[in-house]
Amino acid sequence: MKRIGILGGSFDPVHEGHVGLARDALAQADLDQVLLIPARLQPFKQDRMPASGEDRMEMLRLALAQDPGIEPCSYELEQEGVSYTYRTLRAMQERFGPEAKICFITGTDSILKLDTWMNAEELLTRYSYIVGSRPGYDDTELKECVRRLEETYGTEIRIIHNAPFDISATEIRERLAAGASAEGLVPPAVLEYIREHGLYRNQDLNARGLAYIREHLKESRLAHTCRVADTAVTLARRFGADPAKAETAAIFHDMAKNMSAEEMNEQIRSFGLDEKYIDNPNLAHSKIARCLMVRDFGITDEDILNAVAYHTTGRAGMSLLEKVVFLADAIEPGRSYPSAEEIRRIADTDLDRACLCMLERTVAYLKKKGARIDTDTTDALAYLKDKPILNEEENKHA
Ligand SMILES: [Fe+2]
Ligand SMILES: [Fe+2]
Repeated sequence: MKRIGILGGSFDPVHEGHVGLARDALAQADLDQVLLIPARLQPFKQDRMPASGEDRMEMLRLALAQDPGIEPCSYELEQEGVSYTYRTLRAMQERFGPEAKICFITGTDSILKLDTWMNAEELLTRYSYIVGSRPGYDDTELKECVRRLEETYGTEIRIIHNAPFDISATEIRERLAAGASAEGLVPPAVLEYIREHGLYRNQDLNARGLAYIREHLKESRLAHTCRVADTAVTLARRFGADPAKAETAAIFHDMAKNMSAEEMNEQIRSFGLDEKYIDNPNLAHSKIARCLMVRDFGITDEDILNAVAYHTTGRAGMSLLEKVVFLADAIEPGRSYPSAEEIRRIADTDLDRACLCMLERTVAYLKKKGARIDTDTTDALAYLKDKPILNEEENKHA
C-alpha cells in the first residue's frame, strides 16, 4: 500500500523547520512520498500582505530540490475559498486512489485539538496521522490523546522524533524586514529568492497601509487594491522595476479614494495642494494619498510617492515604477472596459506602448464625456509618443 504524507501550512516562507519535519516523516513513518501543500491566503483577511501563491510555491520548489520524495503541491492554491483539511485530504485520496494511505503530518499542538476541526470524525476515521514530537519533551498529554483517539476512532497515529525548531515564519519575516540575517533558518536558495524578489522587505509598512485601507476603503475598493498589488508585482518583475516598491505603492495608491468630497476639499486646502483639485476627486485622491503617506506613514521614497501621486494621470518623464503602477491600476483583472484585453496583451511585452494606449483611451474617454483633461495626462501622452518605442530588453533597463 502506498503511503503519502501531507504537510500543510502557509509556508510564508518555507523554513528549515518545515523541511526537517517533512524529512523526518519520510524517514521514520514508512512513507513513499511527502507533499507540502501551501494554503490559499486571502490578503485582505490577514493583517499583512502574504507572499503570493506563486512565490510560496517557487520557494518550496527551491527548498525541496535536493529531496527526492518530497514535493510541493499547489492543490489548495487552485481552490476557491477557505481551505479545509478534510477537503484537501479527500482530494489527495482521490488523486492517489482508494488503496493509498493518506497520512497527515502535524505538530503536537494540532493533534491535541484535532477533534475540534471541521468534519473531525471523517478526519479521524479515514486518515492516518504523523506527529512530530521533540526529543526530551514531556509527551504524557500527547500519548494520552493518541490513546483516546485510537480507542474512540481507531485512528492510526505515529509519533516521530523531530528536532526542535523554535523560530516561526513570523519571526523570520520580521528578521528579513529588519534587514537581519535569516541564515540557517531558511534554505540558502530560498533566502536568495527572497532577496532577489524583495519579499517581506516592506512588510511592516505594508501591514500598516493594509490596516489603514481596511478601515477607510469599501470592500470593492479593497479587492481592487489587492488586484493592483498583484498586477504591479508581476509587471515590476517583467520590466525590471523593484517589486517591493511596486507592491507598497499599489497598497497605498487608492487610500484616499473613498473620502467624501467635502473631506477631500478640506485635505486639499490643509495640505496646500493646487486648487484645481477642488471638486475633482478623480485627481485629488492620488495627490492626497501622497501627502498622507508622507505625513502619517513617514514614507520618503520619492519613486513610491510619485507612483501614487501620478497613478491617475501619468506625467512627462514618468519613471519605470510610475508606469508599472499606472498600468497595474488600469489593467488589473477586475477591469473590463472595451480595450482592457488589448492593453493587457500589449503589456505582456511593451510597458511604454501599453501606457500610451491607456493614456490615449483615457483622453478619448474624457473628451467624449466633455470632462477637463489634466495637463499631466496630455504631457504624459506627448512624452510617450515622442519616445522611441523600446524593445523588451531595453525596456528592462529604461
Ligand atoms: Fe486611483
Ligand atoms: Fe486604483
